[in-house]
Amino acid sequence: MRGGASTDLSLPVHIAIIMDGNGRWARQRALPRHAGHRAGVKSVRATVEHAARRGIKCLTLFAFSSENWRRPADEVSKLMNLFIEALQREVAELHRNKVRLEFIGDRSQLGDGLVRKIAAAEAQTANNDGLHLVVAVAYGGRWDITEAARRVCRKTVDGDLQVEEIDEEMLASEMQLVGIPDPDLLIRTGGEQRVSNFLLWHLAYAELFFCDTLWPDFREADLDAAIDYFSARQRRYGHTGDQLEAAEC
Ligand code: IPE
Ligand code: IPE
Ligand code: MG
Repeated sequence: MRGGASTDLSLPVHIAIIMDGNGRWARQRALPRHAGHRAGVKSVRATVEHAARRGIKCLTLFAFSSENWRRPADEVSKLMNLFIEALQREVAELHRNKVRLEFIGDRSQLGDGLVRKIAAAEAQTANNDGLHLVVAVAYGGRWDITEAARRVCRKTVDGDLQVEEIDEEMLASEMQLVGIPDPDLLIRTGGEQRVSNFLLWHLAYAELFFCDTLWPDFREADLDAAIDYFSARQRRYGHTGDQLEAAEC
């Protein structure tokens, strides 16, 4: 289960967030979309700090999807520059706060400058034991599953793996987020109620929290509301409620 006696089971161990609504936030203010993305960085900072304060162990943020490459080239290139700039500005402070930073997604699609910054940030913070912060850039759930399938096939073709040895655990071990428990709670801001190709495999049993708040407006109270929602859920994993209540006695 979830570890030591001091673990608070009403708290999610791992929260994943689809940070949506930057463009609409900007449009409401007659600003270019990029102003919304810039404002969203402040929400990231506030959310990371508050998640750590609340004792959340792992936070995964969806920053750029494999489908977001379809956006206008100017928006994409400004976003990539914003990621580089945010890394330059934030990593030292994250490191001071013992945050361990990790990126998931298809790095082969990213520019060399960003890939270098990502690798440096991961190396610098690798041994930190505070909040584990995962940022999904150029990530798609279908890409993740397809890559895992490809690796597993390669191993079987090479004779290193028997088909009978393939099970859920081994397939998951070929995906991103290895060594991190699946998200307990998924938050999506911006009013849409869809997953948009985020962690398709890993969200199998996540509790889902959708809110209308646009990402640049998301602050501590919004995260608290999502955690409160999670705490009130009974997670049954296929069992009946009666079975769980009997097990608690
Ligand atoms: C989320 O905000 C940020 C990214 C997908 C990069 P959007 O840019 O999707 O904002 P809306 O949905 O257009 O308001
Ligand atoms: C999902 O938001 C991706 C990120 C937040 C990074 P989108 O705005 O791209 O999702 P759709 O296109 O509305 O489904
Ligand atoms: Mg959007």
